[in-house]
Amino acid sequence: MQVFGLVGNPVGHSLSPPMHEAAYDALGIDARYVTFEPGVDDIERAVGGAEALGISGLNVTIPFKQDVLGLVDPDPLAERIGAVNTVDFSGATPRGYNTDAAGVTRSFAHHGVPLDGRDAVVVGAGGAGRAVAFALAESGCRVHVANRTVEKAESLVESIDGASAGGLDTLDRVSEADVLVNATSVGMETEESPVPREHLHADLAVLDAVYSPIETRLLREASEVGATTVDGAWMLLYQGVEAFERWTGRDAPVEAMNEALRARLS
Ligand code: ATR
Repeated sequence: MQVFGLVGNPVGHSLSPPMHEAAYDALGIDARYVTFEPGVDDIERAVGGAEALGISGLNVTIPFKQDVLGLVDPDPLAERIGAVNTVDFSGATPRGYNTDAAGVTRSFAHHGVPLDGRDAVVVGAGGAGRAVAFALAESGCRVHVANRTVEKAESLVESIDGASAGGLDTLDRVSEADVLVNATSVGMETEESPVPREHLHADLAVLDAVYSPIETRLLREASEVGATTVDGAWMLLYQGVEAFERWTGRDAPVEAMNEALRARLS
C-alpha cells in the first residue's frame, strides 16, 4: 500500500484526504492519504522522516511551503514562485512542485477561458498571490498585481516580465481587464468583496481563490453583471489533480475528485 499525505500546521480542516482517496477508489489504487501536523520548527525532520519511511508523496501547506523549497529539488516554476506544495519521493532525490499554479490555469481551461495575450488583474501578493501571478504570466497573460501593501506587489512583479503593480486604488484596471483573480482572504466567511462592484463587467472571467463560502460576494456580483465565474473549489480540485498526476503518472479521475470535494463544501 502506498501512503500519501499533507503536512501543514494546522491541517485539521483539510479536504485533501477525501478528494485523493476518492481518486484511489475510482482507479483501484491501493493507497491512503493522511494528514501530518509537525511542529513549526520540525519540517526538515518531517520531510527526511517521510522519505525514510517510504512515503510516496506529500502535499505541503501553510506555514511550510517556502521552507520545503530548500529541502527538495524544486522544478523551475516552483523555484520562481518560491514555494513548493507537492513533493514526489519516487526518484533518487525528493522533487518539489507548485501545483497551485496549475490549479489556476487548469481551472480557467476547464471553463473555456483563454489566457494567452489577455490582461489579468491579481488582487493579493501573499503566498497565493505569488502562485497565481506566476501561473497567469506563464500562460501568456499581461499581469497587474494590486495589493493593500503596495511594496509586496512591487517586489512580486520584479521577477515577472512585463507585469505591473499597485495598491488597491489601482483596482479600476479591472474595468479594462479580461481576467480577475482574488488571491486575498477577503470574503472568507464574510460578506466583503475585495473588488468594488462598479469595476466588474460582462467580458470578465473571475476566479475567487476563497472557497468558504463557495459563493462569495465577489462571485455573486460578478455573476450579476454577466461575468464568467470560477469558484475556489476548482482551484483546490485542480491543484490536487495535478499533484495526483505528478505522483502516479496517470490521468486523474477529475469527476470523482470533484464530487468528493463538493459533497463537503456549501
Ligand atoms: P496566502 O498565503 O493565503 O496568500 P498571506 O500570505 O497572509 O496568505 O496573504 C494574504 C493576502 O490577503 C495579502 O495579499 C494581504 O494583503 P497585505 O499584503 O496588504 O497584508 C491580503 N489581505 C488580507 N486581508 C486583507 C484586507 N482586509 N484587505 C485587503 N487585502 C487583504
